[in-house]
Amino acid sequence: MAKKTLLITIILILSLSGVSQAVTSVAAGKCMVCHKEISPGLYQQWLASNHALHNVTCIDCHGAEPKDADAYKHQGGFISTLVTPKDCGVCHRREAEQVGMSHHAKAGQILESNDAYLAHVAGGNPVAVTGCESCHGAKVQINSSSENKLSAKSWPNSGIGRINPDGSLGSCNACHTRHEFDKSQARQPETCGKCHLGPDHPQKEIYEESKHGNVYFTNKDKMNLDADRWIVGKDYFTAPTCATCHMSATSSQKVTHDVGNRISWTLRPPVSEYQDNWKQKRSNMKNVCINCHSDTFVDGHYYQFDALVHLYNEKFAKPAGAVMKILKKNKSLENSADFSNDIEWIYWEIWHHEGRRTRHGAAMMGPDYTWWHGMYEVAQHFYFKFLPEVKKTGDTEAIAYIDNMLKNDPMHRWMSQSTEELKKGIKSGEIQKIYENMFESKIGLK
Ligand code: HEC
Ligand code: HEC
Ligand code: HEC
Ligand code: HEC
Ligand code: HEC
Ligand code: HEC
Ligand code: HEC
Ligand code: HEC
Repeated sequence: MAKKTLLITIILILSLSGVSQAVTSVAAGKCMVCHKEISPGLYQQWLASNHALHNVTCIDCHGAEPKDADAYKHQGGFISTLVTPKDCGVCHRREAEQVGMSHHAKAGQILESNDAYLAHVAGGNPVAVTGCESCHGAKVQINSSSENKLSAKSWPNSGIGRINPDGSLGSCNACHTRHEFDKSQARQPETCGKCHLGPDHPQKEIYEESKHGNVYFTNKDKMNLDADRWIVGKDYFTAPTCATCHMSATSSQKVTHDVGNRISWTLRPPVSEYQDNWKQKRSNMKNVCINCHSDTFVDGHYYQFDALVHLYNEKFAKPAGAVMKILKKNKSLENSADFSNDIEWIYWEIWHHEGRRTRHGAAMMGPDYTWWHGMYEVAQHFYFKFLPEVKKTGDTEAIAYIDNMLKNDPMHRWMSQSTEELKKGIKSGEIQKIYENMFESKIGLK
């Protein structure tokens, strides 16, 4: 589609907004002449872009071959409205390949998930389109009965893992807002914050409350965001943004468009696990931190983060998951459809909302999310909503499981002890030791 259409090249000198500009083809020139009048805002965005400066015009991105799945006739030529990673990749190959390898590209494959099931049965189809797919990406459909234009059922859409008619995955303009496609915009946290926020993945809010966010928002003008090259420690030093840690260059790493490249855990599932090749990925991230911190400081951060993830896994996630499995196996829930019982919603919120918040808070230095919006709620709902619901089912196997846990697991035994006894244990360090033992048996002493 974006293949530079070969046209008879005539140099036209057009007078555009008082600025003289060379345009290299008749058709390309025509697009701009018309659209300057009918969509002047869009035209101005393009005119202000680095693309315009380098003579990349409408037709370089929107031009299409008649055989393309989403091509339609427009003013005597074939164009397509979508400009997919494959199209941008004609000129930006490395970025397109890295996006293709990332989790972002897979974000549209969610139909099989419990999240999607829940949205479809408890909500309804329109919410899947305007909610989920607006972040994750829709499968963009063509309306063949309407000049092959995009179907209103799935367009507009700029979800991060959009499934495009040409088979490519994702949309570059999820981050590079059109038509300026400005690097400095993509470097700022607001870009990621369209999707990375809210009850189940509040990275934006966590960043805002972190020291990093504080320093960023109070010193934004010192961030050199417009610089062509943007290497941490060289071109700016004040604060890291989302892009700094997850994507941007360091003195020894290039920009990566694979956002998983520096991530060691996966904090999304009910029980967190290390990613494949996690040590390398972690060292990629540390290579960002050490521009502003010492090794000892950064290792300390990872020690505390790992400890928190193991705590959440061992104390709450694994027991709650085991109990749910027993209840399902024994068919002890009142209604048969998934999510038609209270306990399923309670369990879901423990891991999908509160449990993620606690893990994300610890990963990115947001203490309020780690505790008050995080582990505090995990604990309250585990002890005072989840366990009572288990008792109500009358499932003897599940009840025996939790009784045994409350009696014999040192992390849960506190409920049957006295306050005096527990306070003494905290003072002497005995209670803390329970957790240190658990954590150190998991990862070994560092
Ligand atoms: C003669 C004027 C004219 C020219 C030349 C022209 N356009 Fe358009 N274009 C329009 C008008 C009018 C619309 C709005 C049509 C509508 O609302 O459906 C439009 C709509 C579009 C759309 C959106 C269509 C949709 O249904 O989503 C795109 C994309 C587009 N033009 C790109 C281009 C490109 C690329 C070129 C150059 C190859 C071009 N236009 C040349 C007048 C023009
Ligand atoms: C660098 C590539 C690029 C260039 C150059 C470009 N566009 Fe686009 N355009 C896009 C992308 C990306 C989208 C969003 C489509 C998508 O999500 O795939 C888009 C969308 C559009 C749309 C439909 C969306 C809307 O908001 O209505 C129109 C119309 C359009 N472009 C017209 C133009 C015109 C006219 C020009 C030249 C002045 C132009 N484009 C130049 C990449 C480009
Ligand atoms: C016909 C070739 C071509 C196509 C197609 C193209 N670009 Fe570009 N792009 C360029 C050139 C040339 C530059 C300016 C030189 C540079 O920065 O590499 C550029 C620069 C950029 C920049 C840096 C802008 C800045 O602030 O410095 C971004 C981001 C970008 N393009 C994204 C995209 C996206 C997203 C698409 C698809 C929607 C796209 N490009 C399609 C050629 C193209
Ligand atoms: C505001 C944007 C947004 C909306 C709306 C949204 N999600 Fe997400 N979703 C995300 C982000 C961001 C992540 C990744 C979070 C992380 O890594 O912490 C995610 C993660 C997921 C995951 C986990 C993927 C994995 O690899 O484990 C699934 C499944 C999912 N979402 C499905 C859905 C479904 C289904 C809906 C609608 C019911 C939905 N999401 C609504 C942004 C959104
Ligand atoms: C998750 C958000 C995100 C997505 C999706 C994304 N980009 Fe980027 N892109 C960025 C950020 C952030 C930067 C700036 C990195 C820096 O300079 O620190 C960037 C920079 C660029 C640059 C400038 C590179 C340079 O070295 O100066 C180009 C070109 C580019 N992106 C193209 C693309 C293309 C093409 C796609 C789709 C295949 C894409 N991007 C998808 C966030 C994104
Ligand atoms: C349009 C929505 C959207 C935008 C914008 C977006 N993301 Fe994401 N991101 C997602 C979704 C959805 C996922 C989960 C994908 C999955 O697992 O299926 C995700 C996953 C991630 C992951 C986890 C990757 C992994 O391999 O575990 C990171 C890190 C990430 N995004 C960082 C960023 C950064 C940094 C930005 C901004 C520069 C950004 N994202 C912009 C939607 C978005
Ligand atoms: C100071 C560096 C830093 C900043 C700034 C930062 N992050 Fe992170 N992020 C991390 C670290 C460290 C992790 C955990 C990595 C690991 O698992 O080893 C992480 C994890 C993530 C994850 C993975 C969560 C999962 O479910 O597995 C996502 C998504 C993410 N960050 C998005 C963002 C977004 C969006 C922003 C900005 C609003 C941001 N990050 C700002 C360092 C940072
Ligand atoms: C561009 C510089 C920069 C980068 C890169 C950076 N930080 Fe920071 N970090 C800071 C600044 C500035 C502070 C605030 C120092 C203070 O409180 O005086 C800070 C504070 C912290 C704190 C203390 C939080 C608190 O509430 O006291 C931790 C922990 C931290 N950073 C960890 C990291 C980790 C881990 C990374 C890499 C994933 C990282 N930082 C990357 C600049 C940076």
